[in-house]
Amino acid sequence: MPHQFIINGGKDIGGEIEVRGAKNFALKALAAALLTKEEVVIRGLPKISDVSIMISLLEKMGSKVTRTGERDIAIKTKEIKAMELDRKHSRRVRASIVMMGPLLSRKGEVVVPHPGGDLIGKRPINFFIDAFRKMGAKVKKSDSQYRVTAKNGLKGALIFFPKVSVTGTETVILAAVLARGTTLIKNAAMEPEIVHLCNYLGQMGARISGAGTTTIEIQGVGELKGGIMEVMPDRIEAGTFVMMGVMNNADLTVKKCNPGHLEALWEQLERAGAKFEIGGNWVRTIPTKGRLRSVSVQTHEYPGFATDLQPIYTLLMTQASGICVVHEPIFEGRLFFTDLLSRMGASIIMCDPHRVTVKGPTNLIAKQIESPDIRAGIALILAAIKARGESVINNAEIIDRGYEKIEERLRKIGVDIKRRKLKISS
Ligand code: EPU
Repeated sequence: MPHQFIINGGKDIGGEIEVRGAKNFALKALAAALLTKEEVVIRGLPKISDVSIMISLLEKMGSKVTRTGERDIAIKTKEIKAMELDRKHSRRVRASIVMMGPLLSRKGEVVVPHPGGDLIGKRPINFFIDAFRKMGAKVKKSDSQYRVTAKNGLKGALIFFPKVSVTGTETVILAAVLARGTTLIKNAAMEPEIVHLCNYLGQMGARISGAGTTTIEIQGVGELKGGIMEVMPDRIEAGTFVMMGVMNNADLTVKKCNPGHLEALWEQLERAGAKFEIGGNWVRTIPTKGRLRSVSVQTHEYPGFATDLQPIYTLLMTQASGICVVHEPIFEGRLFFTDLLSRMGASIIMCDPHRVTVKGPTNLIAKQIESPDIRAGIALILAAIKARGESVINNAEIIDRGYEKIEERLRKIGVDIKRRKLKISS
């Protein structure tokens, strides 16, 4: 059922807000549970729809999933019963593609629907397919799906990524841990979620070195044992909340986060003149009389400035003095949402799909708008919090894919936000 958020903006906010578990770790941890017959416990899962869909996919594959706490589950997959990823679910969560490695290792065959592009870009899967071929699998592509077979199991290989890919790196890691021989990944992604995943795989018996660098070596083992995984704090959610505090000149403490994962953002915000204090697992934004300065940014793979924070930073720059360029080289559709900010009064010019200029400061005007994707969606919520008057954000369910019960958490820091379920008339 479609939902919308109704936000009455222009009010003071402040207080404390907690960060939940990282979506982009949780989804991969769930896939990793398929690698073993033994029980895997995952603690601290965020209550978001992408996680629920991934759990449904596991159940369809034959996993027994038991809820053991509010955010904790135990997964046991004695036998993998299906080798075809459910079409409807896997198309909704692109990250489900990381299940391919475990399924190939344990079943020797996997069928995945082509994930297709989405609003942030084309999102091909050629790197994954090339890697599986190098690891000895046969790939048959039809209009709507890929059938990948490795009846005698996968073998280790040298995988060089032409472009840094987070899910690509994770997919090869999950495929290589049970493969015969050694796999070497070069030009690997260095995201903290990958390091965290490799640490847990190590505890389950995998032999991986180099995670967090551009070269990762995986020596295949015969089998993995069960284990307990703790979901790390979501660095994108933490960065989102800190920028919300800065934009509203608020005294806001963002708790239960890992500030060490956001160095590029701190650097950027300092140069823009934002005032904030960083603790061991919290960040506090401090109100200031000075105005923010415009500072250009270019998104980059970790440890650079995260593309997932770009929409929120672009919004922040509408409130800073001067002109800056936002350069988004990673995804070709991720700046199109700036049209919606312009409709709300921002002064943004698109130079090409990868570049916009933002001139500020501008007053934002409340509007009725559609949320195009998770990160642009949260930026629109933040824009509506700043804009005086009532804004309506349609497609709220897209934001629920990545941010747990966002309206309840924002209300606690003073945001006037309601969720409305829309009835579809037949
Ligand atoms: N690419 C290819 N071929 C491939 C795979 C990727 O050309 O086979 C290209 C992409 O088109 C893109 C670049 O490589 O230009 C990097 O994409 P990457 O594979 O790193 O993206 P991803 O793994 O699909 C993850 C996150 C995204 C995040 C990006 C970049 C998950 C589930 N998703 O996507 O998160 O933006 O890395 O950091 O981990 C989000 O959370 O809202 C989100 C979109």
